[in-house]
Amino acid sequence: MTPLSSRPATDTVATGNTLLWNSEADTQAFAVRLADALQAVGGDVFIALHGDLGAGKTTLVRHLLCALGVTGRIKSPTYAVVESYALPAFAVWHLDFYRFNDPQEFEDTGLRDIFVSSGLKLVEWPEKAEGHLPAADWQLHLSSAGETSRMVQLRRYSVRGAQLWSACTGP
Ligand SMILES: Nc1ncnc2c1ncn2[C@@H]1O[C@H](COP(=O)(O)OP(=O)(O)O)[C@@H](O)[C@H]1O
Ligand SMILES: [Mg+2]
Repeated sequence: MTPLSSRPATDTVATGNTLLWNSEADTQAFAVRLADALQAVGGDVFIALHGDLGAGKTTLVRHLLCALGVTGRIKSPTYAVVESYALPAFAVWHLDFYRFNDPQEFEDTGLRDIFVSSGLKLVEWPEKAEGHLPAADWQLHLSSAGETSRMVQLRRYSVRGAQLWSACTGP
């Protein structure tokens, strides 16, 4: 099988941070910074979003897509599996594998093409397609820390992921 990612492999040890978003406004503020950072690095990034139902994965993506200029209703891809957006700067795919009963469904639904295309891939429930996805640039693990608080473990696995973080935190 041909490797999914043609990007040079990196053996950089993953680095990471723990973030705390005390309110949805904090989540939105992070999304706005991330949107700017994505514009700066070109948008060819894969972000894996882990966390239980209600952890805030879709909410983060909605704020991010809004900040990137998507207008109108942003649907959760829980039923359709994928929603795509053609932005002026780059393409965006928002995927949700929650309903997969078997990781093989990733191949059966023809989603492989998305991961060999250039653009932003935002994936909820990536573990449900385990063994079929390329390495993510960022892995976010969201968990509830109170009604409106969310704890977020952010791990970066690639040079691109590190650049994105620098652009997020930069001056
Ligand atoms: N700080 C926060 N960040 C994200 N969502 C939050 C936050 N505080 C409360 N929420 C609420 O939690 C829910 C998260 O739902 P959703 O984003 O659909 O979760 P998931 O996609 O992880 O299942 C939403 O109703 C959202 O308004
Ligand atoms: Mg969701």
